[in-house]
Amino acid sequence: MFLTHYSSLLKKIDYALHTFMNNHIETVKGSPFLEYYYKKINDFLFTGGKRIRPILLVDSFSSIAPQEKDERIIPTSLSLELLHNASLIHDDIMDKADTRRGEKTFHISLRDYANENYSNTNTNSDDFGISMGILGGDFAYNLAYKAINTTDFPPAVTLKAAIEFNEGFFQIVQGVIIETEFMGRFAVTEDEYYTMIQGKTAALFEKAARIGAIFAEGTESQINALGEFGLTAGVAFQIVDDIIGSFGNPEKTGKPVDSDLKEGKKTILTIKAIEKANEKQRKTLSKIIGNQDANEAEIEEVRDIIKETGALDYARNKANSLYQQCITFLDEAEPTLDEKYKNYLAKIAKMGVNREK
Ligand code: IPE
Ligand code: IPE
Ligand code: MG
Repeated sequence: MFLTHYSSLLKKIDYALHTFMNNHIETVKGSPFLEYYYKKINDFLFTGGKRIRPILLVDSFSSIAPQEKDERIIPTSLSLELLHNASLIHDDIMDKADTRRGEKTFHISLRDYANENYSNTNTNSDDFGISMGILGGDFAYNLAYKAINTTDFPPAVTLKAAIEFNEGFFQIVQGVIIETEFMGRFAVTEDEYYTMIQGKTAALFEKAARIGAIFAEGTESQINALGEFGLTAGVAFQIVDDIIGSFGNPEKTGKPVDSDLKEGKKTILTIKAIEKANEKQRKTLSKIIGNQDANEAEIEEVRDIIKETGALDYARNKANSLYQQCITFLDEAEPTLDEKYKNYLAKIAKMGVNREK
């Protein structure tokens, strides 16, 4: 039942995104590079993302206004998918990631364009790819604003939603600033980590749920309950992202499985492992974590320490208990949420913790 609902919603969102992007591509017909570039952004958007944020927004809306057609809210939900993808394009530059969703990352794909087309000039293809990636993220951010501002809802409601959207964007940036600062340090506390992921990841889940509730003209109690649900589900989602980012199957995740460790990312796994490590393990961790040239055997050594210190189990348990906690918020809404959609929301959160990709 949920899976049928999820895939039907995903199809509708994809169709709306397709139409939205095609309208933009039309505006640059006759400018070959711009047309190529817009299509590249479009291709990136259609590489198989889970669409969890727009789906959260739509189901949050329906949990308050189940009688409304979801076609009405879908165009606004694109804003979250666009903002998310913009952040991924920039994230992959910062994380030096070559693959995303099993395909080349956006900046790498533009680097390769330069290699193929400008080999007879002095163009530095790495720089070209990074510049185009910075612009690609900006471009997608801009489209996201267009999607949140052009709705057929009353202007006051749209404005309230747009303010939340802006705040979500702000939280993401702040989270990534905090995360980037962590790179320079070996020891980061678990509390600092939660503050960071609440910004970089969970804020957008929170905003997705709140914005859906705002468009449904829900009560403050409903908006807040859905927001707390989204925030907590988002924290669980990022913990699982950390787990599959180092222990997942790259064929399934479509992302590198050693880059967090090589980049020295402070994930719940490394934070807990550092905290629990004995002296010998700690030495190994400090030598390998953040070493770009670490080989596979060394990375495997770190994975072993993450397991031996109990950090992996700790992270899994934490994600599960956050899932249990997040669904309790759904019962706090007054008036109560529609039962069917409340159930779908819980399933989305569950999908976020029980995922392989
Ligand atoms: C990945 O998000 C980045 C994080 C914030 C953890 P998703 O796992 O939702 O990425 P896609 O869009 O489904 O690929
Ligand atoms: C995702 O960060 C958060 C943002 C894009 C803001 P991560 O680096 O943890 O996500 P993945 O693992 O690359 O998708
Ligand atoms: Mg990344």
